[in-house]
Amino acid sequence: MKSLFGKLADGTKVHSWALDNGGTRLKVLSYGGIVQSLEIPDRDGRYANVSLGFDTIEDYVEGSPYFGALIGRYGNRVAEGRFTLDGESHEVNVNDGANSLHGGAQGFDTRVWDVEPFTEGSDVGLYLYCTSADGEMGYPGTLRTKVTYTLTRQGDWRVDYEATTDKATVVNLTSHVYWNLAGEDSGTIYDHELEIAASRYTPVDSGLIPTGELAEVTGTPFDFRRAKTVGEDLRGAHRQLLYAKGFDHNWVLDKGVTREPEHVATLRDPSSGRTMRIATTEPGLQFYSGNFLDGTLVGSGGTIYRQGDALCLETQHYPDSPNHPSFPSTVLRPGQAYRTTTVHSFQA
Ligand code: BGC
Repeated sequence: MKSLFGKLADGTKVHSWALDNGGTRLKVLSYGGIVQSLEIPDRDGRYANVSLGFDTIEDYVEGSPYFGALIGRYGNRVAEGRFTLDGESHEVNVNDGANSLHGGAQGFDTRVWDVEPFTEGSDVGLYLYCTSADGEMGYPGTLRTKVTYTLTRQGDWRVDYEATTDKATVVNLTSHVYWNLAGEDSGTIYDHELEIAASRYTPVDSGLIPTGELAEVTGTPFDFRRAKTVGEDLRGAHRQLLYAKGFDHNWVLDKGVTREPEHVATLRDPSSGRTMRIATTEPGLQFYSGNFLDGTLVGSGGTIYRQGDALCLETQHYPDSPNHPSFPSTVLRPGQAYRTTTVHSFQA
């Protein structure tokens, strides 16, 4: 189940692990902890890879928009790459216009993780380890991270994130799978039905930084409390959709931070019947409708990825939380354990 996937320019080997359990087949790379493919059956038992990706390590290194990757140390944006913690100001790597995105230019998506397979009862999975040095990309503290990917007996894909630090820091870890439940080479996700259990979202400015307001979704394109297709309101002339060229926003999950993962979203492709339910301990969900895919990348199925060919549902704390004291805190201190869990369940 372990094979050589390729080598980085400096000769570092990148391995691929294949896991198969409960009807779900997963391929994971040590580079970025990337989910290279995730295959699930449709209502007739036909498998498809429902996650955008590439066939070669070179493609991932050269220009992947975070396909399938683990994101850290801070998922989503930090305004102008600056924040103050305990009275001390920090500057982190700016890689998205004026802002920092997904941990900076060399985020966790570009790290080679130590990977260890495990079997526990009827579960199979991988432990992924990464240590980020004090000051890496500007973030304070040595951050020791462990991510566990588990395929359960039911075929659920469960992701457990754990981290510790030796200095006060901020952490926001997530996974950046681009989903297309009809198959990664099947065109747009505009007909997918999406439900998000959130009455509010965080409106953004033109740089996609939250204004600080928690706005009601009622009467806006952002109301997904009852399932509707992604395409239904995508062209609604709402200023927020103009800023992001579509949906690229954080939903304020009604359940808030929870100890155990609770249901927050359902995605369904009516054509294949494939359905994914997401449960999480996290208070936010970034729904990104693949707006910046622009026809310049050829994916693992040999087709060109264009705008709207996939969507991301990134469970996390709200963007730019380090600069918004009213948002749930992303501060991690020595002696504390960062722990979050997200479970993806599949049916057809
Ligand atoms: C962000 C998008 C960004 C994308 C990277 C998403 O998580 O919300 O704004 O373009 O990642 O391709």
